[in-house]
Amino acid sequence: MKQVTLGGDIWSYEEQGTGQPWVLVHGFPLDRRIWTGVAAELSRTHRVITLDLPGFGKSTLGSGFTILSLADGIAEFANRLQLGRFALAGLSMGGYIAEAFASKHESMLTALALVDTKAEADNPQQKQGRDKMIELVRTSGSKAVADDMLGKMLSPETIRSSPQIVRDLRAMMEAVPPKTIEIALAAMRDRREYLSLLPKLSVPLLIVVGADDVISPPSLAQAMQQAAPKAKVAVIPSAGHLAPLEQPKAVADALGGFVA
Ligand code: MLT
Repeated sequence: MKQVTLGGDIWSYEEQGTGQPWVLVHGFPLDRRIWTGVAAELSRTHRVITLDLPGFGKSTLGSGFTILSLADGIAEFANRLQLGRFALAGLSMGGYIAEAFASKHESMLTALALVDTKAEADNPQQKQGRDKMIELVRTSGSKAVADDMLGKMLSPETIRSSPQIVRDLRAMMEAVPPKTIEIALAAMRDRREYLSLLPKLSVPLLIVVGADDVISPPSLAQAMQQAAPKAKVAVIPSAGHLAPLEQPKAVADALGGFVA
């Protein structure tokens, strides 16, 4: 485990392998370990960095964040590590951050991978859902949020066949502090849309989606591809919203094959 201090926050990260760098950004309410299996595979051919966003995993939370401030934080993080140009993959909330990153720092990227995510902003009903969830975490803590989300995050097949994945995921979600959950929910609620950005990008774009993802379903991956027809799409069988956790080899193959 390594650490850098950026603007008052300690960012924890791990790196392995050599070659062209990949930076892998986790979703909500998760941490870098969601990428462990992907990193193990992908690091055979690439340098792979997995990080904990501020307040998640082993990173500390200073004054709070927005999706855009996290994108700027990743730019600073990459500069501090002297990565040069790198490929960026973001899972779900990490995808929102990756989109924001591409909107401001595209020249730092060799490739962009949006995994189990979408490019639309929250609609009014979804914003209300965020506010309800903020209330829930304030009153009942992180476990209540895990209880609410867990069943939607994995494919039925993973739930049936991999009880250890379900247990590890629950522990990861329950370990995220309530304050971080609250700030992340507000950050996601207030993010802008990036669908209109996608056609303007010249960085190669890969869209990865679990075939059984009910949070960011394949139809939303299709909407991204319609906006950016040159994008490549990889649909991962037997995976829900957490394809990197559920099918790490297939996701690593998709990423590795994209930046050969
Ligand atoms: C995530 O997995 O990061 C979140 O479910 C994304 C979201 O709630 O929009």
